[in-house]
Amino acid sequence: MSELNPMYAMVAKTQFGLEQILAEELRQLGAEEVEAHNRAVSFKGDLAVMYRANLCLRTALKVLVPINKFRANNETQLYDGIKKINWGQYLEKDGRLVIHTSLRSDIFTHSQYVSLKCKDAIVDQFREKYGERPSVDLTHPDLSIDIHINKDEVTVSLDSSSESLHRRGYRTDSTLAPINEVTAAGMIMLTGWNGEGNYYDPMCGSGTLLIEAGMIARNMPPNLKRAQFGFERWKNFDPMIFSQVREDAIAQIRESKANIIGSDKTFKAIDISRENITRAGLDEDIKVSNKRFEEVKGPEGGGLMIINPPYGERLPIDEIGAFYKMMGDQMKKEFDGYDVWVISSNIAALKMTGLAPSKKIQLFNGALECRYHKFEIYRGTRDKKKLAAQEEGDGERLGEVEKG
Ligand SMILES: C[S@@+](CC[C@H](N)C(=O)[O-])C[C@H]1O[C@@H](n2cnc3c(N)ncnc32)[C@H](O)[C@@H]1O
Repeated sequence: MSELNPMYAMVAKTQFGLEQILAEELRQLGAEEVEAHNRAVSFKGDLAVMYRANLCLRTALKVLVPINKFRANNETQLYDGIKKINWGQYLEKDGRLVIHTSLRSDIFTHSQYVSLKCKDAIVDQFREKYGERPSVDLTHPDLSIDIHINKDEVTVSLDSSSESLHRRGYRTDSTLAPINEVTAAGMIMLTGWNGEGNYYDPMCGSGTLLIEAGMIARNMPPNLKRAQFGFERWKNFDPMIFSQVREDAIAQIRESKANIIGSDKTFKAIDISRENITRAGLDEDIKVSNKRFEEVKGPEGGGLMIINPPYGERLPIDEIGAFYKMMGDQMKKEFDGYDVWVISSNIAALKMTGLAPSKKIQLFNGALECRYHKFEIYRGTRDKKKLAAQEEGDGERLGEVEKG
């Protein structure tokens, strides 16, 4: 570790099921000692790695720098532990701070109360030392502090991202039910897509999956359009390193070799997705149109289709089941040669597609536990195999219908 270029131990937070994808992303970015944990990946790197991680990671929600760990069995021990940290090295006495707390503890059960206690400890330290105190600013803080308590173990980190990294800046709030950008990127990366060939989203909503696919196809850093990252307001911010990291990442953007198409049954979704695609700078790369899934056909040559359909949790199974059956029929009829991945929280409805998944992955869409199923639609191969099986007279049915 050199004085001029110190190494930091960092933790990138992610969603359940995306840890290995994030670990691989970090290795590609030059991070060292990369280790996957539950919803997080720890790693080491210098400032350039920290900046690159924020700019380029597709499946990270936050990049944290842990600065202290201690045990606390009550409020007083928590307050004292936080007050022992020398906050003057991170924040000016008239600076602005925000604290986010996550808890897995029987001792501490109210995250807002813990944030308040920690804020008091920091503010008291400044007041006692300088007679002045920093203020709390939820939207434009100079320092975002992350407190995580697991049982009695308190981890204090500086949040180098500040606002969550899923806020790429291309999407405004919409009334649709958009999928989180980090989930969307992770879903595409879990398929092993190489960023080339046909990519279809037939229920594209606000276009999140299409835009994430477009950025992957062009090797575009997902957070190029962010107004600011937390580390840009830190005392140790090095603008030269950051501008070099940005330039290097921009230089690696390439022409797309993918044919990315989206459709949706509502005009509104298509209007919103067009606006978002424009904001993401991907007008040339993504085509969308207003169509029902019942009337679309996969472009020749096969490829990848990802569907985030309505889950219909509140609908009777007959009704939502008929919709999923229609999806399965349409995949078989019009998407020969495609790998189709479908995410849904409705496992009973997924079975109604009548197709046997070749892969099942557990993911979360927000708080909803989902299954992400892969269906390989290869009619030609299947028919040939079926024929061969029939000729051999073994009568074996080739797994078209899911059992159980
Ligand atoms: C859960 S949303 C997709 C959200 C999208 N992934 C996003 O990030 O915004 C489901 C979408 O399926 C569309 N949809 C429902 N039935 C459809 C059908 N039969 N054909 C095409 N689109 C349909 C809805 O209009 C809605 O936009």
